[in-house]
Amino acid sequence: MKIAILKEIRDNENRVAASPDTVKKIVALGHEVIIEKGAGIGASVSDDMFVQSGATIAKDNKSALKGANLLLKVRRPTDGELKLVEKGAGIVAFFAPASDKKLIEDCAKAGVLAFSTEFTPRITRAQSMDALSSQANLAGYRSVIEAANLYGRSFPMMMTAAGTVAAAKAFIMGVGVAGLQAIATARRLGAIVTATDVRPATKEQVQSLGAKFVAVEDEEFKAAETAAGYAKPMSAEYQAKQAELVKDHIAKQDIVITTALIPGRAAPILVTEEMVAGMKAGSVIIDMAVEAGGNCPLSKSGEVVETKNGVKILGCANLPGALAADASMLYAKNLLNLLPLLTAKDSANFAPDFDDDIIKDMLLTKDGAIVHPSLQGA
Ligand code: NAI
Repeated sequence: MKIAILKEIRDNENRVAASPDTVKKIVALGHEVIIEKGAGIGASVSDDMFVQSGATIAKDNKSALKGANLLLKVRRPTDGELKLVEKGAGIVAFFAPASDKKLIEDCAKAGVLAFSTEFTPRITRAQSMDALSSQANLAGYRSVIEAANLYGRSFPMMMTAAGTVAAAKAFIMGVGVAGLQAIATARRLGAIVTATDVRPATKEQVQSLGAKFVAVEDEEFKAAETAAGYAKPMSAEYQAKQAELVKDHIAKQDIVITTALIPGRAAPILVTEEMVAGMKAGSVIIDMAVEAGGNCPLSKSGEVVETKNGVKILGCANLPGALAADASMLYAKNLLNLLPLLTAKDSANFAPDFDDDIIKDMLLTKDGAIVHPSLQGA
């Protein structure tokens, strides 16, 4: 089949959905890869590197998409890009299905097969295709680097002839893939780390990374994980107990990194204005959930908000994009691993296996209709 890779144009996105390594492997599988000119520049991959791997460079998105059976993207297509995709072709991307329903309707109308990387199931067989995990891991690392950059003090304790510098105290709220990497990174930098989550399984994970677990461990906590491994929305009573516990703890912290998300819903508020008011001058909050509404009501996407009491709050959108070379390399590999499920068994033709559970979970639109159960009737 003919596979197109475009230069990402949404929100200054630097990532790209292919790497020289994946292009080489895709070509070896018998496919043709057409890459829009300059698509890899933001991720430190030149057109020449793609050509050497076996790709053809197209002068613009229109020529890249001409006759393409499959479009591999990082961000969901813009209206202009979607118009160029041929009927019956597939698109794999982060579709942000919870926030851009109109685009999904448009994909259905255009007769394309839209596959959402956000809906890759969290099952063992799909681990190598799991783009949410590959990107969240890098984001967790980068969140700590952003925090260290804004923090006017040191992370590690230092005993010097001129005096002792205290270790930073870091609190990680939400211990999924990003939170676990944030714990590990903050520990490596020398911080004293505590962490919280509502899923009981995280307690042992936090402790195994050498951090202390802080949470309200009541009956509701014991049942807070869905069958898919995600957190359930917690009751108002639980949230009140959690806020009480967190309020005192957070006042003693230097760095707070929030990552808490609930699929398909607004992110839970974990750090209230009152809590921020109780924090020390110079403390830093990194809100990684800002694109889903934020875990702190004061955070603004892409901005450092400095409060009256001297707390800096950074709402981090697209942290993986700040590590575009690594993020693209891993994302491209996720897509390469998905490719067999989109290809006919006996040829290199585009023929998704609609009976496969992974494809069933990821498929948003087919035959002119929205087919994903979570979006029907929406
Ligand atoms: P996520 O990005 O959806 O959420 C981040 C974290 O926020 C989660 O740990 C969640 O429990 C937590 N959270 C939600 N509400 C909260 C609240 N009110 N207070 C505190 N924390 C709250 O999570 P992510 O990183 O996508 O991981 C979700 C699950 O998927 C985890 O169980 C993870 O272990 C699992 N997973 C499984 C994989 C597999 O292949 N088996 C691969 C990757 C993740």
